[in-house]
Order: sequence, then structure tokens, then C-alpha cells
Amino acid sequence: MSNIGSYDERIKDFDWSIAEKELGYKQGDNINIGWYCSDRICEMGKADKLALIWEGLGGVEKRYTFNDVRVRSNTIAKYLQDLGIKDGDRVCLFMDKIPELYIGFLGVLKLGAIAQPLFSAFGDESLHVRLDNAETTAIITQRKHVSKVRKLLERAPYLKHIILVDHDGKKSLNDRETFFNMDEAEPVENFDVFPTKANSPSVLHYTSGTTGQPKGVKHVHYSLISQYLTAKWVLDIQEDDIYWCTADPGWVTGTSYGIIGAWSNGATQCVLDTGFSAESWYAFVEKNKVSMWYSAPTAIRSLMKAGNDVVKKYDLSSLRHLASVGEPLNAEAVIWSEKVLGLPFYDTFWQTETGSMMICNYPGMKVKPGSMGKPFPGITAAILDPDTFEEIKEPNKPGLIAFRPGWPAMMRMYWRNEETYNKKFVNGWYLSGDRSTFDADGYWWFVGRDDDVINTGGHLVSPFEVESALLEHEAVAESAVVAKPDEVNMEVVKAFVTLKPGFEAGEELELQIMNFIRKKLSPLAMPQEIEYMETLPKTRSGKIMRRMLHAKEWGLEIGDTSTLED
Ligand code: WT7
Repeated sequence: MSNIGSYDERIKDFDWSIAEKELGYKQGDNINIGWYCSDRICEMGKADKLALIWEGLGGVEKRYTFNDVRVRSNTIAKYLQDLGIKDGDRVCLFMDKIPELYIGFLGVLKLGAIAQPLFSAFGDESLHVRLDNAETTAIITQRKHVSKVRKLLERAPYLKHIILVDHDGKKSLNDRETFFNMDEAEPVENFDVFPTKANSPSVLHYTSGTTGQPKGVKHVHYSLISQYLTAKWVLDIQEDDIYWCTADPGWVTGTSYGIIGAWSNGATQCVLDTGFSAESWYAFVEKNKVSMWYSAPTAIRSLMKAGNDVVKKYDLSSLRHLASVGEPLNAEAVIWSEKVLGLPFYDTFWQTETGSMMICNYPGMKVKPGSMGKPFPGITAAILDPDTFEEIKEPNKPGLIAFRPGWPAMMRMYWRNEETYNKKFVNGWYLSGDRSTFDADGYWWFVGRDDDVINTGGHLVSPFEVESALLEHEAVAESAVVAKPDEVNMEVVKAFVTLKPGFEAGEELELQIMNFIRKKLSPLAMPQEIEYMETLPKTRSGKIMRRMLHAKEWGLEIGDTSTLED
């Protein structure tokens, strides 16, 4: 029996108080995600249950029970407190997928500070704009990443503490740096968890837009309510499950479901902190007897590419439920997994801004391959006419995906960017920036994004950020960045540039430019190709028309060019 039972029954009279009751929360109570994900699970008698099975390079393994997670997150919280960090301060987690990241996240929340997870592969520029926007007080990182932080010291006066989790303190640290060893520090058995309330800020996730700097999506502790219930009903996490969420907590999937959803349900989860290969992934499932798997279309397409023979080498019989998020899950991928793994991937649609799953396929509900499924109970979703913002009620008509605000995990602000936040709302609807249809059976079908943001392998890349990095190179006069089709990642980044006089287009220069921006961006944002242009297409008002370059790459109609310069 699945946790959700019947979707059709659950949507009748649904109320989020179902989750509140299960969590023992009443309006006005304190609510702290750090406490709910560790102390509460221990109080429920699961102190000795495994919370985390971690594997790193070379097969190194570490295991932590819920009590270990409870005590170590206390220890981290206390350490930060002793440094003078307090509630509301932004604490950045800038680490690989090591145990300190997962447990440190809870420690930051227990202190009442705001966790700002950032992908550890970010270069110094990508790191800097995000720290700058948040005016981050402290950063927890590793030796291998600290050089990127050191480059910013002068430009980041707000950054008072740089905490290294794998440093012995013997070699010289600069005066802002300290070291902390989570496993060896004096354990703090009891910590006074900060009395955060429903609307206290919890997590700040950065997401990319078309123009301007990345946006800091502010979430609150009350998000737990929907993260807990969606993990329970959609991922169907049950007592004996071994759960594997493949996402990095630098992105929202890795926190909402790689930490909060999993641990608030008392689930044992595993983490593989090595690069992707089909063999190592299947081996990891086999070794840990993974039963519930949450991944992304790009990974699934890579598994498909690796072929069906490799699957046969492993015993994957522990798998009982599979789910996906991040980009459109092609029907082929669903059909493939049903044939080869014996189970379909269940697609889920949501965003950094929504904080929790919005449109999903549920255990027990028929899967239509290629469809995102149906809105989660309690979610009022609509398709709006792009011109009038009126609701489209007939099936099969594409329009804007919109949600009625009010579900618990909804973002509460773009950090220091109220103007952009306000633009996301029209007539009482939150506009997702995506387009979809629904069919006569109420299933939703993704159509596309509404802006120029590139979705490469489930990760949003801002054309603006890549263009800015390109412009810093001495040879580049102008740049425009668009998505180009790709078999595995669906979209990859392609850059168009015009050169300043005196520079010669060619492979040598391309290599030089690539090396130059590599240090500033993350590997995901790196262009796969640079194309030289004499001029870039622009509107009469001087705006680069990425849409035209995009159409060229995808072999599409160019569309309305009435605003083109000449
Ligand atoms: C954007 C949000 C939420 C976790 C991962 C990404 C696209 C997400 C699907 C899906 C088609 C999807 C949308 C959305 N997207 N899930 N199931 N089918 N598209 O979070 O980085 O905020 O990206 O990812 O375009 O707006 P994010």
C-alpha cells in the first residue's frame, strides 16, 4: 500500500493540517527544520536508525545514525554560535556532497541562521555575486575550494568567518579562517535550538534569471509542512526504504528532498559523492539496496545511452519506486525504464521558488509517459492566457503555468530584489515562467519555458551570467548566449561573440576565452561552443534578440522580427 493511497480521495477536502498534525505542529508553535530532521526523529525512538550512508572517492564510506546527526548538528550550531554568528545571519555551505554539508545544513538552521548552499564547482565570480547579494557572514568550506574564497577577501568585507571542515590548523590560515572537524570536535549533546517560527527564514537558494544577477530565493521554516508531505506521498518514503536522491544540495532538490523531505520522514538515505557513470550508479543501488530513487532526466538519458547490457550485470531488485525532476522527462525515458528497470520513472514538476513538488505522478495513479502528472492535493494550479492572464479552462490549450500562492513551501522573497519578486504575481497568481497544457483527464503536459533561461541537464543557467563573463575577456566586444540542442542534456550552452578590432577569430582565441571564463563560472555554465559573428541581431532599442539565435540553433521559424534593428 502506498502512503498516498488514492489520489482522487486525497484531493477531496485536502488540508495542509494533515501534515501539521502528523508533525505535531500547531499554529504559533516553534518550528525548526533542524530539530524536526534530527531531534524529533530520535524522540520517536529512531535514534539508532541509520540516517546517512555516504560514499566518496575510492569507495570510502561513512555512516551516521539519527543520533549522530542530532549531536553533530548541535556541535556545528554551537561552534557557529561561539564564533558570534546569530539568527538571521547568512551562512554559506560551499562543499562537495560530504556529510558536513548535509549535517551542517541542519546545524545552521538549529542556530536560526539562514543556510545558503552553493554548488562547490562554482568559480570565484559565480560565488562572489551570490555572497555579495546575501552579504554572507560565514562560509563553511573545504581546503580544495578555499582558494576561490581567498580571491574574494578584499571584495567581501561582510564575510567574517571562513570555516574549513578538513583542515588541521597546522598550516597558516589567514585571520578570517578557522577550522572545525565535525567528527572529532567535542560533541554537544544538548543545544538550545533557536525558536524559529513558521515565517522565520531558513534557506536561501540562488536561481538564474534571463537578465540581472541570480536571484536569492528565500524560504521559511514552515516549508517543512509541504516538503514532509510531498516526500511522503509522492516519493512514497516508508520505514524500511533506502532512499537515494542524486541531486546536489547546491540546488533545491538536494535540500528539499535530499535533506528535509527525507529526514523529516525518518528515512535512511544514501549519498554518492563521486562523478557520474552508469556502472558506479548501478553498483551503488545494488550495494546499498536502494529502494526509492529520485533523479533527473539528464541522468536517466545517460543511463539509457550506456545501454541495456550493463544493467544486467547488477542486481537492482531492491528498487521499488523511481521519480524524476528538473526538465521534461521524455516518454521514451519512462518507457525505457519500465522495460529495463522494471519500473517507470514518475515525473515531478516544481521549481526553486515553489520549494516543494507541484505537479506530480503518484504511486497508484496511471502514468501517461511524457506527462508531468496532476497538481498535488492542496495546490491550485491553472493555465493562463499569456495575453490576458485569464484562466484557460478547456483542455489541450497551451498557456502559462500559474499557482495560487498559499502552499507552505512557497518562496517568500527574492533576497534584496522585491521588484523582481513582485513581477512574478499577476491577478493573485504566481507565474512559474513555464508553459503547459492539461488534457481531458487532468494530466499536465509541459510545453516550454517562457524566458531565455537555459535548462542544461536540469540546471538553470543564466545567459546573462555567461555573457558577463565573456565580456570580461579583452577580445570580446559583445556576446549572446543561448541554448543549443544536445542528446544527453537536452540543452547546452552556446555563445555568440563579436570581437574588438585587432583580434583574430579562430580556434586559438576560442580556447583562450574558454580558459578565461572557466575560472569564473561553474562547469555546467560553460559554453560547448563559441561562434564568431560580425554583429548580433538586436532590436531597435538595442536589446540582443537571443530568440533569433535560438531559432537558428534549433532550426525553428524565426518568428516576428518587426522590432529588429535592420
Ligand atoms: C525549472 C525550475 C525543482 C527542482 C529542479 C529545478 C524546469 C522542473 C520539470 C519537469 C519539465 C521541469 C522548469 C522549471 N522543470 N521540473 N518535471 N518537466 N520541466 O529547479 O532550478 O528552479 O528549475 O525547471 O522549467 O521552471 P529550478
